[in-house]
Amino acid sequence: MSSLIIKNLHANVNDVEILKGVNLEVKEGETLCLLGPNGHGKSTLLAVIMGNPHYEVTEGEIYFDGKDVLAMSPDQRSQAGIFLAMQYPAEIPGLNSADFYKAALNSRREKPMTLFQFYSTLQNAYQKMDIPFEMSKRNLNEGFSGGEKKRNEILQMELLQPSIAMLDEIDSGLDVDAMNIVAESIKRAQQRGAGLLVISHYARLLDMIKPTKTAVLINGRIAVEGGPELYEKVDKQGYEWIKAELGINVEKEVDAPMNRVSIGACATRVGIENNDKK
Ligand SMILES: Nc1ncnc2c1ncn2[C@@H]1O[C@H](COP(=O)(O)OP(=O)(O)OP(=O)(O)O)[C@@H](O)[C@H]1O
Ligand SMILES: [Mg+2]
Repeated sequence: MSSLIIKNLHANVNDVEILKGVNLEVKEGETLCLLGPNGHGKSTLLAVIMGNPHYEVTEGEIYFDGKDVLAMSPDQRSQAGIFLAMQYPAEIPGLNSADFYKAALNSRREKPMTLFQFYSTLQNAYQKMDIPFEMSKRNLNEGFSGGEKKRNEILQMELLQPSIAMLDEIDSGLDVDAMNIVAESIKRAQQRGAGLLVISHYARLLDMIKPTKTAVLINGRIAVEGGPELYEKVDKQGYEWIKAELGINVEKEVDAPMNRVSIGACATRVGIENNDKK
């Protein structure tokens, strides 16, 4: 069984340490939801796992299927079965979407797909995601709406069928119908035994996909882990209780207003007030 194992991971961006010793494991067949206040390192963690060169790993290990992930290039990580749906998918002018998908699919096969195989695979994925097939002729993400970009990330998961899929705020910006379509796609991935690492600030998607585990990332470390009851508790109570029960101070200001799993504003405010009193 494939598993992604992260041990004592430290990573810097622009010489500032963001990840300060992350330990985490996701096995095939599991759905881990990763929560945490804004700016505490969730997207950084996924970027480091995928091999984004902006981030410097200073300590720690990542293994996938027993292989040393940090020794692999990003494309080798992808071909090994690790997938990232980005929080902010990049627009790539000049890169035709269909050409990109064809290259990605063929890079995982010894013999390239026939044109017929490719177009039927592509059409099937577009249909599942309820995206007009015409969009396959457009440049990747260029001029796509926020929701279209997110749906397009999941289209790539449908095409590549990864063993571990990391979905970074895939639910942000989706309308209700799109949210249901994305949830159905995630459920298909769960049914075929994939492991999922899902970052979300909203309980709505999590309620639909029923995570098996929850982890909360605070100040660049996993502060607490548990089952689905943990995301429900964060949804109802935010992060203040973590501070009170575990004595963890939320270091940074949380600025974005959020929905039900919203997060840390109280803890931060109390932290700031306490600091002011000192
Ligand atoms: N390239 C970069 N240059 C400078 N700072 C960066 C860079 N990338 C990330 N950071 C900083 O690292 C910290 C962690 O950011 P990250 O995107 O991982 O947070 P997050 O937990 O995903 O937050 P959110 O819930 O808002 O998406 C933030 O303070 C962010 O500003
Ligand atoms: Mg993020």
